[in-house]
Formats: sequence, C-alpha cells, structure tokens
Amino acid sequence: MKALVSYHSEYGHAEEIARQITAGLRGAGVQAELVRTDALQVQRLVQVDLWVVGGPVHMGGVAWPVRKILDATSELWLRDAMEGKLGAAFVTFGGLGGAGGGAELALLSIWAVFAELGMLPVPFAKSVPEFRDAGLHWGLAVRTGDEAGAPQPVQEAQRKAARAFGAYLADVLARVRQGGGDA
Ligand SMILES: Cc1cc2nc3c(=O)[nH]c(=O)nc-3n(C[C@H](O)[C@H](O)[C@H](O)COP(=O)(O)O)c2cc1C
Repeated sequence: MKALVSYHSEYGHAEEIARQITAGLRGAGVQAELVRTDALQVQRLVQVDLWVVGGPVHMGGVAWPVRKILDATSELWLRDAMEGKLGAAFVTFGGLGGAGGGAELALLSIWAVFAELGMLPVPFAKSVPEFRDAGLHWGLAVRTGDEAGAPQPVQEAQRKAARAFGAYLADVLARVRQGGGDA
C-alpha cells in the first residue's frame, strides 16, 4: 500500500505535522512519501492508494500553494485517474478567541476536490482517542496559536494526534483494500 503526504508550510508547523502523519502511516506498514507541494508532480499521485493533503489555514481557507496543487489535479480529473483512491486532509491554524478561523472550511474545500476527482475522503473518526487533541470530523486540525493568536510550537499531544491520524488512515486503507468490514 502506498501513500503520498503533500504539504505546504511557511513557519514549520504544518511540516512538523506532515512528518508525524507520515511516521504514523509508515509505522502501520504503509509505504509513505512526504513531499512539499511545490515539489509535487501531480502524475505521482496516480501511483498511490492514499493522498494526504494539508497545510496552514490562510485567510479562512487553504494556503494558496495547497490550492495551486489542488487545481493542478484537473489533468487527472480529465482522465478519471484518481477514482476510487482514498484522500485525507489536515490543517494547522492560529485561530483567535475560542475557535480557529477557517479550519473546517479549509478541510472541506480539500474534500470538495477529492469528490470532484471521484476519490473517497476519509474522516478522522472520533473513536481514535487522540481525536480530542486535534480532531475535526473532516480531518486533523492542529491549533498552533494561543488565545491571543501568538504562535506556539507544536505540542507533543498534537504530534501524537498526527501519528494516530496516520495510523488510523493506514488502518482504513487496509480495510478498504482487503474488503474487511469489522471496526
Ligand atoms: C498570511 C497568513 C494568514 C493566516 N490566516 C489564518 C486564518 O485565517 N485563520 C487561522 O486560524 N490562522 C491563520 N493563520 C495562522 C496559521 O494558519 C498558523 O500559524 C499555521 O499553523 C502556520 O503554519 P506553518 O508554520 O506551517 O506556516 C494565518 C497565517 C498567515 C501567515
């Protein structure tokens, strides 16, 4: 089973999270590759079973380098080249006040592209214990700012949640590919 984790990151938070997701996938036996979006050739996606897409929330949505690679998949859409593959999304966000500004919108906008491509988006199941630390139903969402919006380093609980998300995705991938139905 093969996966590709693509990410954008300006200040290192999303990169750290992408690394941890990749570690979680690899630890569960998936051949996982980690690629910055600006180095990703979309043709490489045709060779994987799972594409994990993410980056920071910018101005209420996905950062533009993530949007750019999402748009570039139109050539795969034309050929139906991604149909039936799994997709998963993650974001890091600063947030202000009690909630992040745009984390859900960013995740859902990635899901919309998965749908256009005929892919199967994988949620972050709430039964995974680490969901409470960085979970939204549409994927992993890691808050990297304090209540005043000041940037904070990625916390160990968040790194652990990212690894758990990767391991969970590996489990779903195995079940889908092997036709297993048990939770
Ligand atoms: C230009 C810019 C716009 C941002 N807009 C938002 C936003 O709309 N909502 C939010 O929650 N965080 C926002 N942030 C905070 C980032 O999402 C957050 O700091 C993120 O974890 C940075 O990831 P990185 O270190 O990988 O670049 C913004 C940051 C920048 C630089």
